[in-house]
Amino acid sequence: MSDGLLLLNRTDRTFKAGFSIIKENLTGLSQYFSLLHPNERTYLDSLRFDRRRASYLLGRVAAKHAISRLEEGVGMDAVFIDSGIFQFPVVKSKLLSNVQVSITHCDDLGLALAFPEDHPLAVDIEKIDAAQAEAFESQLTAEELRLIAKVEPEPLIGCVTVWTIKEALSKVLKTGFMIDFKVLEIQSLEKSGHCYTSEFIHCGQYRAVSCRHGDYICSIVLPKQTSCDLNDFWLAFKEVAGMRSSTSE
Ligand SMILES: CC(C)(COP(=O)(O)OP(=O)(O)OC[C@H]1O[C@@H](n2cnc3c(N)ncnc32)[C@H](O)[C@@H]1OP(=O)(O)O)[C@@H](O)C(=O)NCCC(=O)NCCS
Repeated sequence: MSDGLLLLNRTDRTFKAGFSIIKENLTGLSQYFSLLHPNERTYLDSLRFDRRRASYLLGRVAAKHAISRLEEGVGMDAVFIDSGIFQFPVVKSKLLSNVQVSITHCDDLGLALAFPEDHPLAVDIEKIDAAQAEAFESQLTAEELRLIAKVEPEPLIGCVTVWTIKEALSKVLKTGFMIDFKVLEIQSLEKSGHCYTSEFIHCGQYRAVSCRHGDYICSIVLPKQTSCDLNDFWLAFKEVAGMRSSTSE
C-alpha cells in the first residue's frame, strides 16, 4: 500500500488531491474491514462472488486511504462511498464536504484519487493482456491507431494505453462507457520513456497522462491547464504494482 498527496496548480489557486494504491488479495483485504461504513459492510456481505468482493474492497479501501490523505483525522468508517445512478462513486459523510473519488481496480490492484469537487480528476488501470488485444483494438478509431503506430512499437501496449485514457475520460464525465465512443476520441499521443501524454478532440479542457509498469498501464485524466507533478504517484504505482500481496491464498 502506498499513498500520498498531489498538488493541482492552477494560475489563481492550488488544490490538493490524495492518492492511494493497494495490492492485496481477498484474504489480506479482511484486515481493512474496520474502515468500512456499515452500509458498505452490508453491501459487501450481499456479494456472492469473491472476485467482486475483492474488487469492491480494493476500491473502497484505496478510496478511504486517499480521502485520509486529503482530510486528515476523519474516521473512515463514518464515510460511506455509495454508487450513483451511473455507478460512479459518491462520497457521503457529515464530516466532509464536496470530496469526490475516482476508483479503479484490476486483478489484486486497487487505486483511487480523492479530490475536491471544484477540480475533477479520474483514474483507470488496465492489464496488458494479449488475449484481449482484438477487443481493445476494435474500440479504437483508425486515427487513434495511426497515433499509436507513430510512437509505440508494441501495438498492444499502445491500444491498452489509449483504452485506459478513454475509460478515465468517461469517468471524469461520469458516464462510464454509456456514451458514444466518438466523444472520447484522443487527438494526440506523445511518448517519453514509459509515459504518455494525450489530449482529446471533443473534450479540449482535459488531458491525460499515462504510465506503464510491468503488465499494467495506468492513466490519469486531469484539466488541461492544471500543472501537477505526478512523480510520487508514478513511483507509488511502480512500487505497488511490482509487490506481492501480503497474504498468499
Ligand atoms: C467506468 C467504466 C468504464 C470502468 O470500468 P472498468 O475498467 O471495468 O473498471 P475500473 O476498475 O477501472 O473502474 C471501476 C470503478 O469505476 C467507477 N465508476 C463506475 N461507473 C462510473 C461512472 N459512470 N463514472 C465514474 N466512475 C465510475 C466505480 O467506482 C467503479 O468501482 P466500484 O464499482 O468498485 O465502485 C465502467 O463502469 C463501464 O462503463 N464499463 C463498461 C465496460 C464495457 O462496456 N465493456 C465493454 C468492452 S467492449
